[in-house]
Amino acid sequence: MTKSVLIFGASGLMMSHLLPHLQQQHDAKSEPNFTWTAYVRPGSRGIPFLTSIGVKIIEGSWEDKDKISSLVNQYDIVWDAGDSHDPSLPAIIVPALVEGPRNTAFARFSGTGNWITPTGGNLDESARLYDDSKEGDIRAIHGEMFNGAGDLIALDALEKGVNVWILCTGGVYGQRPAGISSSGVFVRLYTNNALQLGYTPYIGDGGAHMQLIHIKDLLSAFDLFWGQVLASIKSKEEAKAQVPKDVSERYLFAPGYSVSWKRIAETWSKVFKDNFQRDVPVKNVSAEEAGFISPLINSEMKSKPTRLEHMGWKLTGPTIEEELPLVLSSESQLPLA
Ligand SMILES: NC(=O)c1ccc[n+]([C@@H]2O[C@H](COP(=O)([O-])OP(=O)(O)OC[C@H]3O[C@@H](n4cnc5c(N)ncnc54)[C@H](OP(=O)(O)O)[C@@H]3O)[C@@H](O)[C@H]2O)c1
Repeated sequence: MTKSVLIFGASGLMMSHLLPHLQQQHDAKSEPNFTWTAYVRPGSRGIPFLTSIGVKIIEGSWEDKDKISSLVNQYDIVWDAGDSHDPSLPAIIVPALVEGPRNTAFARFSGTGNWITPTGGNLDESARLYDDSKEGDIRAIHGEMFNGAGDLIALDALEKGVNVWILCTGGVYGQRPAGISSSGVFVRLYTNNALQLGYTPYIGDGGAHMQLIHIKDLLSAFDLFWGQVLASIKSKEEAKAQVPKDVSERYLFAPGYSVSWKRIAETWSKVFKDNFQRDVPVKNVSAEEAGFISPLINSEMKSKPTRLEHMGWKLTGPTIEEELPLVLSSESQLPLA
């Protein structure tokens, strides 16, 4: 059977890897197979790439509420990979699906920026550990978390009978496919923050951690996640009957490696030097001097992917030290787009 998928954020780093990967796995002869449609900004630089892999394009703005609301119910799966920090898109999609006539599944990417405890930039073993198998940890999401506002809208939809799935990833790193301009949210934020400051900052002893996932590990996590999404697609009546009692069944973590902020600062500084001959030194600073991603650098991120681990997920991707010189190759335009 053919399933139709509508994607927001299809031209981003993550989707530009995931889409060809999924297409390879589900060719025209496999069951189910898919038709792919991307809703992109008018003139998006990703359109040639998406067209070249057979994705149908709908151009439009995220502000066009009526257009998006009438579109989403025409698909079997709607996938929000646009900007997990900004709740404006789920705020349009979700009410339309709640009121909609069919059981469209709603998949969303979120980020482990939710799961942090401020520790002044130092490792603090007592920082809260969030575990995706614990319902209380998913219920702890609030609107002030990095991706909390959109997550809350999605989780509310789940309780109203929408078939919702969320994959919450660490900061993603990996090379861009040809024709894709984005290096992904985390690499863009970190790189541009350092360029703006003129140094790569760490706070305290730099021992607090960020969780980072290589594209290869994102793909293996995604395969397990996607298998669950597909298995869940039922009629609207059946879906209503099976609203999970424990919302954490629908919210899976894929954090990746834990890397200290000092190590991150050293890695970026070295790549600026080696690939661009730019002197962007590592600097120990106060939270006020760490730039716009200071709340992350000031905190310990601690999330545990129990659900994927139970399904056999293991990290095999290269480290940030190995991959960053290839991600920020000397031809890259800085600051990143
Ligand atoms: N990369 C990470 O480190 C990371 C970590 C955790 C979660 N996430 C989340 O995972 C998703 C995908 O991340 P990514 O790194 O692949 O994203 P990305 O490379 O920044 O790409 C997202 C795409 O979404 C579209 N978009 C973004 N903001 C928009 C806006 N205001 N209006 C219209 N279109 C907009 C753009 O496509 P068009 O220009 O073609 O419209 C853009 O190419 C996002 O929700 C992100 O927040 C990312």
